[in-house]
Amino acid sequence: MKGIILAGGAGSRMWPATKVVSKQLIPVGLQPLIYYPICTLMLAGLREILVITTPAQGPLFRAQLEDGSQWGVRFTYAEQPDPGGLGQAFTIAEDAGFLGDGEGACLVLGDNIFDAAEFGRSLSTYQEIDGGLIFAYHVGLERASQFGVVEFDQETGRVRSVVEKPERPTSPFMVPGLYFFDGDCLEHARRATPSARGEVEITSVMQPYIEQGRLRVVPISRSEYWLDTGTETSIEDAWSHVGAKRRITNLRIGVPEEVAWRSGWLTDTDLLAVADENDPDGQNPYANYLRLLVQDGQTYRR
Ligand code: TTP
Repeated sequence: MKGIILAGGAGSRMWPATKVVSKQLIPVGLQPLIYYPICTLMLAGLREILVITTPAQGPLFRAQLEDGSQWGVRFTYAEQPDPGGLGQAFTIAEDAGFLGDGEGACLVLGDNIFDAAEFGRSLSTYQEIDGGLIFAYHVGLERASQFGVVEFDQETGRVRSVVEKPERPTSPFMVPGLYFFDGDCLEHARRATPSARGEVEITSVMQPYIEQGRLRVVPISRSEYWLDTGTETSIEDAWSHVGAKRRITNLRIGVPEEVAWRSGWLTDTDLLAVADENDPDGQNPYANYLRLLVQDGQTYRR
């Protein structure tokens, strides 16, 4: 299974912050936003990752993320000319020579933050899925109308419907921007036609799976967080969540070096080299966190 991260989009709700810089490069804490969903893919054990950007922002993403080898992964880059919808990710991946028929893909949106330890640990078990797998996050009926809303059978986890931004939601669960699909996804994406708003919707890629009874949902537990960062309020919430967590626990989320180190893709020596190269004086809190991981390895490895 391969990983795809969608980091195009217009970011119009975040203007003027997004006038020059893509939303996914705006920081949350010391990390550019895209570090968080990259960590999600890395936690799923995916090391082949396609980064889809707007044509204009491609060079900035390449400068920030490089080829991925510094984190034990490999990035390929592709461009989406216009924000034509999430469902385009798969055909863009095909055109880039990244994804072929019969290959499974995990798609994550470049502005989604998951702070969910149990959930993170479970992700690596979905690489061999049959059908599709999405997640359900409880936001309540009132807020649900802003999102894709999922109805599902509580016992079997089978999805009954996913409806994009319904006026009257029938379920308090929304679908976060993380989707696992088996090797049929490319075929489904090719057949998807643009919706009334002119976008190839991710729901169109999911629909054939739903009709075949092959789309499952895993509810994210109420002790875990999903944060969207597409609006002023939601990015404010993300900043305060990440900050409060760091101050209270001295743990950070969205640190690719840490995920790579815990996965055995980077060694203690690698981590210290990154810290020293970027912060020879020991003044940078992110670099000092990497040093702490190595020094206090037994505790922090838990
Ligand atoms: P959205 O928040 O729906 O769209 P946006 O980022 O363009 O912002 P706005 O609505 O304020 O103009 O996008 C969710 C994520 O998906 C975000 O990370 C950008 C990405 N995206 C693409 O890469 N391509 C697309 O065609 C769309 C619609 C979104």
